[in-house]
Amino acid sequence: MPYAVGLQAAASALLHAGFPTQFTLAIVIFLLIMHVISCFEQEQPDAPKTLPGHSLSAIHPFFRRRFDFLNWGFHATGQSVFQFHLLRNQVIVVSGERARETFFAARGLDLEQGFKILSGALPTLKGVTSDLQNKARNIIYKRLATVQRNTSLSDLIPAILEDSRRIMEGWGSGGSFDPFEKVYELIFQTTVRSLTCSEIADDPAIVARLKVLYDKLDHGTTPATVLLPWLPTPAMLKKLWATKQIYDIVAHAIATREQSGVPQNDTLQMLLDSKDDKLIIVGFIMGLLIAGARATGTTASWLITFLGANPEWRAKALLEVQTLLSNYPLSQPTPNGSTSAHLATIPLEAWEAEMPVLDSLIRETLRIAQPHSAMRRNLGPDLYIENKRVPTGSYVIYPFSDVHLDPELYPDPWKFDPSRPVDTKTPFGYVGWGGGKTTCLGTRLAKLELKMVSSLFLLGFQHHIVDINGKVADVAPKPDWNDIHMCRPAKGSCYVKYEKLETQL
Ligand code: HEM
Ligand SMILES: *[C@@H]1O[C@H](CO)[C@@H](O)[C@H](O)[C@H]1NC(C)=O
Ligand SMILES: *[C@@H]1O[C@H](CO)[C@@H](O)[C@H](O)[C@H]1NC(C)=O
Ligand SMILES: *[C@@H]1O[C@H](CO)[C@@H](O)[C@H](O)[C@H]1NC(C)=O
Repeated sequence: MPYAVGLQAAASALLHAGFPTQFTLAIVIFLLIMHVISCFEQEQPDAPKTLPGHSLSAIHPFFRRRFDFLNWGFHATGQSVFQFHLLRNQVIVVSGERARETFFAARGLDLEQGFKILSGALPTLKGVTSDLQNKARNIIYKRLATVQRNTSLSDLIPAILEDSRRIMEGWGSGGSFDPFEKVYELIFQTTVRSLTCSEIADDPAIVARLKVLYDKLDHGTTPATVLLPWLPTPAMLKKLWATKQIYDIVAHAIATREQSGVPQNDTLQMLLDSKDDKLIIVGFIMGLLIAGARATGTTASWLITFLGANPEWRAKALLEVQTLLSNYPLSQPTPNGSTSAHLATIPLEAWEAEMPVLDSLIRETLRIAQPHSAMRRNLGPDLYIENKRVPTGSYVIYPFSDVHLDPELYPDPWKFDPSRPVDTKTPFGYVGWGGGKTTCLGTRLAKLELKMVSSLFLLGFQHHIVDINGKVADVAPKPDWNDIHMCRPAKGSCYVKYEKLETQL
């Protein structure tokens, strides 16, 4: 009986151990007992049904296979609202039309707190992004609105196009690439351009380093880093180190600008001219870059993928861009006759109002390939969703798949079909840019980037999708909603095959 021997040895070792060991053990045993008791606690009648199984068994699937896990939860409980526990945190998952109406309107539900525990992807540096008080956040959002004023956004047009031209030049005369790497990389550059400064955006080496650091933050999110953020696990230390390095890059750029005494014409200058606290500036750049670059990069990657798999939509989009160019002819030829230079003369208003085809392509891409789950924490009083109590302090999740993949609202939901009619009757029938109390504050910038990048690509290249064997695929891969970052299909299962056209980029 090796176990009994082991236990006996352990017991006698313990008796001889010092006070600290006994004390620690006593605490562990106490916690275990508390835990067992809490498992037998009577469920309140208005509490959502709890997932079967031990609470610890929810951790792995919640972080690694979220889409399957949440779907299984609705199935296993047979309810449209259910709950489970992540350690001591009560998490309530809701679905259905009435639930989402309450969810998006409820005043007490807080996005930032929900995001922090359940996602943990934001860099947390004390006093910078983690304890960002409401005041600081409001200033940051105000500055983001300033960046998207007509005049500032218009100023960004040539810069974003020039970045796109330079990177697409680097793609050469043809070949194939993984859109989830190459297109994402391009969007990362244009987003850095829009949100930071020339010192960073003009230096491809720094931008590449920033991207590596941001990816580390995203992929370094393990259950432990989210649930036990104070625990110095290797993953946590790596994240902290990456955050520190991002901080240094941003702080260095600020110092360089201040020392040079030469004002530039970019977002950093706007922030400096607003006389904001330096921590606000760092928070603006670090926080928004991560909120913006990944969502926009994911969308652009899928947009190029869907265009490559749907030749008729590709043709429609190309025609739209060509029409736009002919509606805004050059008054005098540009010195080098380049496409990007011509696109740069198109006014903001035209990009926004005269591209209905691209608008519907973006809309459909977000519906089918944005694996978002809205997460909140109830900071207000108890509230009820579908007659189930959501206590103060608990977390609430609304998975976007509930509405965006609902066959009642979107027949044959996995089919990419930008011609679907826009349903304006169903409450929150489309939440690609959020809804109710929290809507995306970067929509204008994101849409503009998406339109400019895809326009230049369509004018400069021919492209289609190939599968792993290099065979032309006329169906795009199915978005994998279990990948909570990019909905990315299995690695290597899909490539963009492209050929440069005669047009000068
Ligand atoms: C295609 C690109 C993007 C998509 C699809 C997108 C989508 C969304 C969605 C769905 C939400 C609401 C989240 C929720 O309710 O849980 C949101 C919030 C937000 N987005 Fe975006 N976003 C994009 C790009 C950007 C960019 C480029 C920025 C900034 C430069 C940005 C800044 C924000 C901010 C600050 C919030 C939080 C708003 C709040 O606290 O009320 N987003 N976004
Ligand atoms: C800022 O730069 C843009 C081009 O990127 C230019 O069109 C605009 O006139 C400049 N604004 C100022 C105030 O210099
Ligand atoms: C012309 O093309 C070059 C690169 O070939 C680019 O750097 C430059 O900005 C373009 N000039 C104009 C006026 O668009
Ligand atoms: C800003 O641009 C939008 C559309 O692009 C337009 O509807 C609006 O009138 C413009 N605002 C100002 C103040 O020019």
